[in-house]
Amino acid sequence: MGPKPILVLKKFDDISIFLNQNSERNLTKISKHWAGEAILNNKHVEWKKSRKLINPAFSSQMIEKYFDVFNKRSFALVDKLKLYADTGKEVDIHKYLLNSNIEGLIENLTGAPIRTSEKEVDDFGVALKDVLHGVARGITSPWLYSDTIYSVYLKLTGNMKLIKELNYLPAKIVRENLKDANEKYRSETADSSKCLIDLMVKAQQKDSTFTETRLEHEFLQLMSAGTDASALNASFTLLMLAIHQDVQQKVYEEITQLVGEHDAFTSDHLSNHLKYLEQCIRETLRMYDPVAVTIRESQKEHVLKDNTIIPAGMYILIMIHLANNDSAMYENPHKWNPENFSEQAIAGRPKRSQLSFSVGPRSCPASNYAILSIKLQIAQIIRHYHVSTCIKELKPDDLKMEIGIRSKLGYPIRLTLRKKTRT
Ligand code: HEM
Repeated sequence: MGPKPILVLKKFDDISIFLNQNSERNLTKISKHWAGEAILNNKHVEWKKSRKLINPAFSSQMIEKYFDVFNKRSFALVDKLKLYADTGKEVDIHKYLLNSNIEGLIENLTGAPIRTSEKEVDDFGVALKDVLHGVARGITSPWLYSDTIYSVYLKLTGNMKLIKELNYLPAKIVRENLKDANEKYRSETADSSKCLIDLMVKAQQKDSTFTETRLEHEFLQLMSAGTDASALNASFTLLMLAIHQDVQQKVYEEITQLVGEHDAFTSDHLSNHLKYLEQCIRETLRMYDPVAVTIRESQKEHVLKDNTIIPAGMYILIMIHLANNDSAMYENPHKWNPENFSEQAIAGRPKRSQLSFSVGPRSCPASNYAILSIKLQIAQIIRHYHVSTCIKELKPDDLKMEIGIRSKLGYPIRLTLRKKTRT
C-alpha cells in the first residue's frame, strides 16, 4: 500500500467541484526525476510563476503568429507522407504527427527557424513515449509514491539513460536560444507579443529562481505535455476518419468548400469554420483521451455534491476518461459519433463537461493551440489524401491506458493521393 489513502473520482460533478478548488497536482515526486521541477509538477508559489511565464505564449495574439509555422509544418508533413502514397502500404501515422508537432512547437516557442536535426527530433520523440509509460506506471503504482523507493526503482530498471535522452534536446534549445535572445532583448523596445524564449529572458532578469536549469525544465515539460497528446488525438482522429468513410467524405467536402488545394489555412478558417472537422476531433478526444488520468493531493477538506467529505492530505486519482465516457452524459458513450459535439448536443450538457483539457486553475494552458494545430494538420492531410485502414473497428481490448489512451494496434493508415497532378 502507498503512504497515503487514495480516492478515485470518476463523475463530472465531483471532478469539476474538486478541480476548481484544488491546484496541487502532486506529481513532484514522480516526475521531477524525469523532467526536473517546472510547470507540470511545481507547487504553490513556484507553480504560479511557471504559469505566469507560460500563459502569454498561448494567448490568442501569439497563436495568430504561429499560423505560418503551422502551415509550413503541415505542408512538410504532407510531403513526407508521399513516400507511402498510392503504394497500398499502411504507415503508422503517430510518429510523423509527433515529429511534426515537436518541430512546430520548437519553432513557435523559440520564434526562430529550427536548428535541430531530424535525428534529434526522432530521439526525443522515442524517449518521450518511453518516459510517459514510466510516469504512468509511477502514478498508478502507490508503492512507488515514496521518493526514495522511486529513485531506487529508476536506477534498478535502467531508466537513467532514458532520462538523459529526454533532457538533451530541450536543454540544448534553451541554451542556444537564450544566448541569442539575450542580445536581441537588449536591443528591443517593449513588445507584448514575444515568443517564449523572449519571455524567459525577461523572467530571468526579474527573478533569480528562473535559473537556466529551471528554464530548460520548463521547456522540456511543455514539449512533453503537448506534443504527444496532440499527436495521439490526431492519430486517433485519422484512424476514425479512415474507418468511417462517410464522415471522411463530409470532412473533405467541408475543407474543399473553404480552401483551394494550395491555399494556406488562416486563423479565420480554423477558428470560425471547419466545424464538422472540429466535432470529429472533440469526439475523438472524448473517446480516446490523450490525458486520461491525473492526480491531486487535497490541500483542505472538500465537500462533494452528495455531501461526501474528502479530508485534507489524500491522494486523488481523477479519472478524466471515465467521466468523458459516462452514460449519464452521452447516450451511447462507446460509439464514436461526431454528432455528440454538434452545437445542439453541447447545449444539452453542463458547461465544460468535456474534461479532456481538464478544468480549474491547472487545466491545460494550450487547449486552443492544441485544437487549432490538430485541425490544421488533419485538414491538410485530408485535402491531399484519401485515408483508409485495415482496422474495421477499435474494440476495448485494442486499447491500453497509460497517461492517455493508446491503441495497441498502432495507427495504420493507407494513403491515396486525391489529385494525381500535384507533386
Ligand atoms: C490534445 C492535446 C492536449 C490535451 C488533451 C491536453 C490535456 C491536458 C490536461 C488534461 C491537463 C491538465 C491535467 C490536470 O488537471 O492535472 C493539461 C495540462 C497541461 N498541458 Fe495540455 N493537453 C494538450 C496539449 C497541450 C499542448 C499543445 C501543450 C503545450 C505546448 C500543453 C501544455 C500543458 C501544460 C504545461 C499543462 C500543465 C498546466 C499546469 O499545471 O498549470 N498541452 N493538458
